[in-house]
Amino acid sequence: MSRTNPPHRRPGRRTALTAGLLAGALAMGAGALGPASAADGPGTYARVDNPYVGAQVYVNPDWSARAAAEPGGDAVADQPTAVWLDRIAAIEGTDEAMGLREHLDTALEQAGGEPIVFQVVVYDLPGRDCAALASNGELGPDEIDRYRDEFIDPIASILRDYESYENLRVATVIEIDSLPNLVTNVSGETATEACREMAANGNYVTGVSYALEQLGAIGNVYNYIDAGHYGWLGWDSNFGPSAELFHETATSNGASVDDVAGFIVNTANYGPTVEPYYSVTDTVNGTPVRQSDWVDWNQYNDNQSFALAFREKLVSLGFNSDIGMLIDTSRNGWGGPDRPTGPGPQTDVNAYVDGSRVDGRIHTGNWCNQAGAGLGERPTAAPVPGIDAYAWIKPPGESDGASEEIPNDEGKGFDQMCDPAYQGNARNQYNPSGALGDAPLSGHWFSAQFQELLANAHPPLS
Ligand code: BGC
Repeated sequence: MSRTNPPHRRPGRRTALTAGLLAGALAMGAGALGPASAADGPGTYARVDNPYVGAQVYVNPDWSARAAAEPGGDAVADQPTAVWLDRIAAIEGTDEAMGLREHLDTALEQAGGEPIVFQVVVYDLPGRDCAALASNGELGPDEIDRYRDEFIDPIASILRDYESYENLRVATVIEIDSLPNLVTNVSGETATEACREMAANGNYVTGVSYALEQLGAIGNVYNYIDAGHYGWLGWDSNFGPSAELFHETATSNGASVDDVAGFIVNTANYGPTVEPYYSVTDTVNGTPVRQSDWVDWNQYNDNQSFALAFREKLVSLGFNSDIGMLIDTSRNGWGGPDRPTGPGPQTDVNAYVDGSRVDGRIHTGNWCNQAGAGLGERPTAAPVPGIDAYAWIKPPGESDGASEEIPNDEGKGFDQMCDPAYQGNARNQYNPSGALGDAPLSGHWFSAQFQELLANAHPPLS
């Protein structure tokens, strides 16, 4: 994934950017399987407004076992995390990872006949991760036919087999980073050749609209489109154009706004849900904090304010008024000894913002294996109106990218933003990467990071 930052806004400048539970569920045995009601047929029931309300959320046994094997990991091993379909082979499963069908069957067992949300990330677009290299994928820029035939169609076909389980609610997270990259990384200083190519061939829009349409046709599927994060799309120059592109995409190639349950922000990123000690509308000695180096003219300083405003914007453009937002809170806690406990000094805007902010990054454009990060809010349904859930989509402990070149057959490249020694690029305003060293390939288990996330959890682990 890239989680790139934004091109700009400041005139004339650059920018920014259970185990226990599981055992209990398994003990319920096969009695938990089977349609909730014999009368249920495919698509015969209405979707609920917020799938997370009144439902448990699936605990991925693969992740849970890895977390539980870590010292201290038991404290979170029973938390729900998303299943990532990040390559064609992930659908059937591998020696190390369960396939989609096995996950769905296990979800039904965990549910014990009660409502359950199954969170799944759909992530294999042609030319994936065009502004970064760490999560480049297996499909070349032009392989849209393979995306449809070998990736989306098989996923849809499996999900259709589970459509009659009325208590199963499938929340899909659709193609992280793809559409935002088309907004911010096709022109100017932050442009990449790969993003220009994806804009020109249209395959991100074609792929996302195809996924929305195919998956949205399944009665118990709730599609959430990835909407970057506040430190990427929060500038006026990116906010409106992104919302417009999302609407255009959701209404092309047979997709419709009815195929969209909502949007997700901060997927696999580190931006706080809420900055408790300062607001973007504060001033210091008459100077608006928006002018501080950290805020840098962004309209938002945290993901929740961004998500709620973005929701309004999306509805104004034609999305349904009941769409809900998700916030990935898996790694945005920023607890530990360095976390501020109140507002910073009122000497100047920079001292004030830097002393107030809980976000411990060097720059909001930093996205890879951030040093000092902690687990964020535990998964929570409907924390505030407009937000469907705080969810752990990026499984804590899985790397964002290798800190040095590692040959691999996953299509993954080496992105310098994952190298602790790297001094940055236009997308993070030439700041150090802030990444941890000794990191494995993206998606691979990174024990040292998991330990930091536990230690710096906020709210702290009890
Ligand atoms: C990787 C995927 C992985 C996901 C979840 C991404 O950065 O590219 O392969 O499944 O993270 O850890």
